Amino acid sequence: MALTTKILTSTHTDNMKDRWIKKQQEKLKNLASGLLEEQAGGGDDENLPDEPWFDSPLTPGEVPEGYAKFSDVFGIKSDSGIEHHIRVYSDEDWPEDIRSFIPEPSSDYVFDALALEQAVLGVNYGENVSISGPPGCGKTSLIKEIAARIRQPYMRLNGKDGLEISSFVGQMVINEQRQTVWQDGLLPIAVKNGFLLAFDEWTKVPAGINMVLQSLLEDGGHLLLEDMPGKYHEKIIHRHDNFRMALCDNVKGLGDGIDKFAATNVQDTSTINRFGVNISMEYLSDLDESMLLRRKYPKLSGKLASHMVAVATKIRVGYAQGNLSLTMSPRNLLKWAKWALILRNKERAFSMAYYQSLSDDSEKLAVDQIYTAVFGGIHESASREPVAWDVPF
Ligand SMILES: Nc1ncnc2c1ncn2[C@@H]1O[C@H](COP(=O)(O)OP(=O)(O)O)[C@@H](O)[C@H]1O
Ligand SMILES: [Mg+2]
Repeated sequence: MALTTKILTSTHTDNMKDRWIKKQQEKLKNLASGLLEEQAGGGDDENLPDEPWFDSPLTPGEVPEGYAKFSDVFGIKSDSGIEHHIRVYSDEDWPEDIRSFIPEPSSDYVFDALALEQAVLGVNYGENVSISGPPGCGKTSLIKEIAARIRQPYMRLNGKDGLEISSFVGQMVINEQRQTVWQDGLLPIAVKNGFLLAFDEWTKVPAGINMVLQSLLEDGGHLLLEDMPGKYHEKIIHRHDNFRMALCDNVKGLGDGIDKFAATNVQDTSTINRFGVNISMEYLSDLDESMLLRRKYPKLSGKLASHMVAVATKIRVGYAQGNLSLTMSPRNLLKWAKWALILRNKERAFSMAYYQSLSDDSEKLAVDQIYTAVFGGIHESASREPVAWDVPF
């Protein structure tokens, strides 16, 4: 009996498959003969109209109230060259007790024009944003800088901290009157008050916890505080209109094919499907990265900065090829510059900021070669002798 059912099911599925394939072939035939295009409203122009989308505040000319020009908000042009009108808030738009969550902009941050534009469009047009990219390339700080410039409260959650569901959703606590009461976690505070939320390394939390996020990611989504006592409708927290979520990670959530980032969980594809903006970020260009170093440390000469960036770039290539187990992020670069200026010695600084964290001798040798190739001299990390330095101090 079971066998018969199986055969019937498989025949049934085969028939469905055949029908589906036939339908697709039919569609293609119609497309080729222009039939579907005609049904869809005709017109033989596949170009987009010059005017912006009707429902968009992009309209050239006057900037609507509560909006500002992209280039005025971020100090650079958008990658597409379009002068988007960006929703900006004033601190008074937010309740007093959450204004302290609005970050201050950092003048040291160097924007990647493309990643910035894409993330800003997501925030502006109510889409969830997913950013993937190598460690330290500036994913989280991009979101923080956007929040700082549009004056929106910002919060960062980190999936890496062995996230317990209670720590970000909420839990029962004992208050001063010795009563057991519900205390919201960070997530409901962000959802209720319209924060821009950066969820770091979300692929490291178990897929089960991320399922909680799924309903949040939907249009008009909500958060269910399952463990909170009370009636069902009281447990539902609706998204504030301004609430936006940006998930930042080294990987795209489909498991880590290259096995570089331990403890990465494969996420439910239905979670991944709920991002309206997908950004693949890279390290800045060499030129921008030198600028980053010199903005933070103006005493660094241009030549030294660009050589340091060249070392970092070569290390990153070695890391991507699997020859080095540690990459060199802008964070390491900034520390290198800092120690170089304090010690007036770029070699020793390099050793402190990066080299000594390598444990494998063959990796150290590879890095020595990189260093020598860029700076010409021999990199002697163990040397206690003062080494020539070219930091103008
Ligand atoms: N574009 C940038 N401009 C200035 N500093 C940067 C930039 N990108 C990264 N950094 C530095 O590197 C650190 C790590 O950046 P972060 O945003 O946490 O990286 P990620 O989230 O990609 O791991 C920042 O605190 C900042 O000091
Ligand atoms: Mg991050």
